[in-house]
Amino acid sequence: RRVSREDIVVDKGGHRHFMLKEIMDQPQAMTAALKDRADFANGRPADVMQLERVVLIGCGTSLHAAQVGRHYIERLAGIPAEAESASEFRYRDPIIGPRTLVVSIGQSGETADTVAAMHLAREKGATLITICNAEESQAARVADGALYMHAGLEVGVASTKTFVASLTILQLLSVYLAETTRRLVDQMARGPGLIGEVLAEANLYSSLARRIGHYDNFLFLGRGANAAIASEGALKLKEISYIHAEGYPAGEMKHGPIALIDPEMCTVALAPRDDLRDKTLSNIKEVKARGGLVVAVLTKGDDEAASEVDFPLFIPQAPDLLMPLVTTVPLQLLSYYIALLRGCDVDQPRNLAKSVTVE
Ligand code: AGP
Repeated sequence: RRVSREDIVVDKGGHRHFMLKEIMDQPQAMTAALKDRADFANGRPADVMQLERVVLIGCGTSLHAAQVGRHYIERLAGIPAEAESASEFRYRDPIIGPRTLVVSIGQSGETADTVAAMHLAREKGATLITICNAEESQAARVADGALYMHAGLEVGVASTKTFVASLTILQLLSVYLAETTRRLVDQMARGPGLIGEVLAEANLYSSLARRIGHYDNFLFLGRGANAAIASEGALKLKEISYIHAEGYPAGEMKHGPIALIDPEMCTVALAPRDDLRDKTLSNIKEVKARGGLVVAVLTKGDDEAASEVDFPLFIPQAPDLLMPLVTTVPLQLLSYYIALLRGCDVDQPRNLAKSVTVE
């Protein structure tokens, strides 16, 4: 008899919800995704040189992982890459062929739109791989190869540890496609420890939730890979707390969203110390000048930025490669504690299913 999901005995490991347990499990999820894989002794494989383009597809949180993956592939491997919602991709007539690598991302490997998009890529002759958590899934059967997350069963409807695991596999893939790998592999090994440092301060997020949990509108801002993390933060909040939230690239503020800013709007900005920190700090100042409340995820020691915001949330200094994983965690914790405060069903939010197997 095949083992079904119901047969697997899972417990909350002493936590009140699976979601919190799964957030806390993220350092282990990252280690499991890396295990036995970060061996790139043979350098860049010859067939990789033939690749013209990488197309990353997924839905929901997995789409956000694809968007971060695009940054990794372009920056590390120098190969043109794009990320698209599988539900859009499947209804276009995408121009892809044998020199296109299509990477599908999904926790379940059963999302109907993602699997349909994979079939389309297959028909068009692309090389097709999937990053998924569930082994023996449809995605694994359709793809030429599967990179499993090994994150363990995720019970909460909200994807958390599988997002971190997806990003880890995308890093590995990008490093595999890159020419200089050793330094990057060493950086990746620091990921579980850096995520653990944020998790050690989980109580701070519970207190902050009590200060801002009554806001009914949230705007999440970030730049570069953190624009995708801003979208993921907004998705997490709306999904489990039913609060209206939007994620935007901070550079888009002037083109419309800034009109939303007033004292009723809570902005959560991602402005860690990186090449784009100063630009995001300017956006933060614009929000403050219009009476908005600002929570900002900042690098420890960045007192200058902290003095500009209402609530600074400090994260450790991390290499660029790891930054999107580290900035993800504060947003997950914030969503969790706000949903808890509002009495929402964190593990089984209304109207949602863990796997979306119909269109
Ligand atoms: C994320 O918290 C959601 N539950 C949802 O967006 C999910 O990521 C989406 O339905 C895709 O699922 P998959 O990763 O199993 O393909």
